[in-house]
Amino acid sequence: MAYVFSDPRLSKLQGASVLVTGGGGLVGSRIVAGLDAFGARPVVLDRFDAYPHSVRDRFDVDRHAAQVVLGDVRERATVTWLTGRADFVIHAAAYADVAACTRRPDIAFSANVHGTQTVLDAVLASAVKRVVFVSSASVYGDGPAAEAARRAPRFAEDQPLTPISVYANTKLWGEHQVRLMLGCSSTEYAIVRYFSVYGDPQVPKPGSHSWMVPWMAMSAETGQPLRLNGGGRQVRDMVHVDDIAHATILALVADHAAGQTINVGTGTATSVREIAGLIASHYPEAAFVESPMPDGDPRGGYADTRRASDLLGWHPTISLSEGIDRYVAWLKSTPGAIPDWFAPASASTAATAAA
Ligand SMILES: NC(=O)c1ccc[n+]([C@@H]2O[C@H](COP(=O)([O-])OP(=O)(O)OC[C@H]3O[C@@H](n4cnc5c(N)ncnc54)[C@H](O)[C@@H]3O)[C@@H](O)[C@H]2O)c1
Repeated sequence: MAYVFSDPRLSKLQGASVLVTGGGGLVGSRIVAGLDAFGARPVVLDRFDAYPHSVRDRFDVDRHAAQVVLGDVRERATVTWLTGRADFVIHAAAYADVAACTRRPDIAFSANVHGTQTVLDAVLASAVKRVVFVSSASVYGDGPAAEAARRAPRFAEDQPLTPISVYANTKLWGEHQVRLMLGCSSTEYAIVRYFSVYGDPQVPKPGSHSWMVPWMAMSAETGQPLRLNGGGRQVRDMVHVDDIAHATILALVADHAAGQTINVGTGTATSVREIAGLIASHYPEAAFVESPMPDGDPRGGYADTRRASDLLGWHPTISLSEGIDRYVAWLKSTPGAIPDWFAPASASTAATAAA
């Protein structure tokens, strides 16, 4: 991770207790590692059921967290106990898959809405200095139709939001509830809207159509065609998980981030077909197959990055081609990285895009 250790803002983290909900997941675990590197004492609250043990172990949370609590953000007593001992909170726990939320809106509501409310209630009863709420660019939906027809839209934080999936709707609710509940309180907040996150050791979830880099790389690695939903014309703004973690930590400490909603993306639109091409460059035999767009999968756009630059002083450091090179190298050198269910017979559920 390209950290700037001389950044004086990070001195706020020295010895600070930072509760990271969802700290056992892909992004949360990378945030925890960064907090540890900066001298904070990260505390993880996670259900640890989003992945099998083999995947979870690669996230290596135990090595970096001061404390790991197996629990749920809906458990009021647990969350209250933890926020009562925290200086900062990063709320990243979520039922974090577009397709899963579409299949099970009840779980999406319970984890992402009820869970967020429980965290906010607990924070209001605590002395927490700042909360960072992890949201998603999915809140933008397809953006303005006319613009999307001409070119990929650039999504700015203050434009109208039109979520097209259950997942996105829960994130939109969370954002607004954070503003309503913390806006007049003594606890500061910042909201970060991640664009499409990728990077090792990311492993797809069964039945998901998100996380195209692992889906496509694992498809190529197992001799299956790379699936291009919607013909691969939709675009994504791909951000490496290391850059995402760094931006999230800066949102915790940057003075100008207080009360702000900030895109975390690179500002570059890449079509799904182009992403497939970058992966296929590592697999000369790779084939492509087109398939319909799944429900809730947006046509996509790219981030307006001015706030991330002006308010956080954050810029992405890992290009997409470099990040894909790293991912493929990791995949090829990690025995057992491809889950058992990712067999050719599972290819019918494989897909690209979203997140
Ligand atoms: N990966 C992306 O492309 C992307 C894009 C935009 C936003 N996000 C957001 O980033 C955050 C992290 O996502 P991720 O990609 O690391 O996904 P992930 O599934 O790897 O991590 C989410 C973690 O939250 C935990 N969790 C889920 N429900 C919980 C609950 N009720 N109580 C406690 N823990 C719970 C899971 O066990 C998991 O470890 C999420 O809020 C997600 O919505 C991710």
